[in-house]
Amino acid sequence: MAKIDFKALKNKAQKDINLAKDLKELDEIFRKYLGEKGELRQILHSLKDLPQLKRKETGKLANQIKKEIEEILKKKKSNIQNLISNIQKQEWVDITIPGKKPVLGHLHPLTQVKKEVEEIFQSMGFSVIEGPEVENEWYNFDALNIPKDHPARDMWDTLYLKNPKLLLRTHTSPVQIRFMEKNQPPLRIIVPGRVFRHEATDASHEINFYHVEGLMVDKKGKVNAANFKAIIEEFFSRFFRKRVEIRLRPSYFPFTEPSFEIDVSCPICNGRGCPACKNSGWVETLGAGMVHPNVIKNSGLDQKIWQGFAFGIGMDRLAMMKYKINDIRLFYSGDLRFLQQF
Ligand code: FA5
Repeated sequence: MAKIDFKALKNKAQKDINLAKDLKELDEIFRKYLGEKGELRQILHSLKDLPQLKRKETGKLANQIKKEIEEILKKKKSNIQNLISNIQKQEWVDITIPGKKPVLGHLHPLTQVKKEVEEIFQSMGFSVIEGPEVENEWYNFDALNIPKDHPARDMWDTLYLKNPKLLLRTHTSPVQIRFMEKNQPPLRIIVPGRVFRHEATDASHEINFYHVEGLMVDKKGKVNAANFKAIIEEFFSRFFRKRVEIRLRPSYFPFTEPSFEIDVSCPICNGRGCPACKNSGWVETLGAGMVHPNVIKNSGLDQKIWQGFAFGIGMDRLAMMKYKINDIRLFYSGDLRFLQQF
């Protein structure tokens, strides 16, 4: 039997033990060296073949190495156990502590108002239609009966893109034309969407805000201003969840004839007079009128057959009245103290 190098064996075991990361690996090392089929066990088994004197001496050495390896294993095991118990202490979970609620966002107040407006009009048979925010002059102005040099263009001054034929739409009225070009009346649509104006901002004016346009077209004699009044009155009563009165005042829009400005009895003071309505009891809320025959014609329809009404509401102003907000700019400030109230 070749000479057994116990020192090398111990060093090898020591190296393995140092590298062990957990109790499972330590267990494998125990089996590798000291287990039933382990290296040291093999040596002890083979002692019977040695002469008696040599057997005694080698056996003694083997037992000593066995004890030393056991000792190293024991130390490492207790290190690993201490480490585990420290980690457990640090990561101890108190299951009796109430859970932390995740911070949930919610819809922006203008989106909430948009959804509500859509639901009310949909229940009255109107479809919700969208159109492009970047328009051309034809749809934003000319087709709506506002020719190039008409002073009314100043009322809807906008931001022009580098391509001189393109601009940011000032109202969602262009979608009237786009829709009538492709759809035969009778029709009832609303067009909510973002619009842009080139004007100074103040508490009730923004350069970027939201409109909802309405359009109802049918055969002549089938749709009139009285239908419009009934529909818009019903809309406001449902939106403010109380009966509100409206009044129509004569006005001017190039794309409607006759045109009206619509005032709503102040939903804050119920028409008695308060700072929000400047003590008049009425709040100016939208423009409307009977669609101008030129607009019907520009959409490719026969103006002798079809007629209808159209209206345009400022969605931000609706939200301001509903939630008693005194500055439109708050909607776009991104201030969480404001937004979290809705
Ligand atoms: C129009 O834009 C017309 N297209 C509305 C219309 C449609 C009339 C169809 C007739 C038929 P006006 O510029 O007044 O109209 O805007 C409509 C509403 O948008 C106003 O009543 C107001 O509530 C809101 N509004 C207008 N300008 C601003 C602004 N700068 N910031 C916030 N809201 C505004």
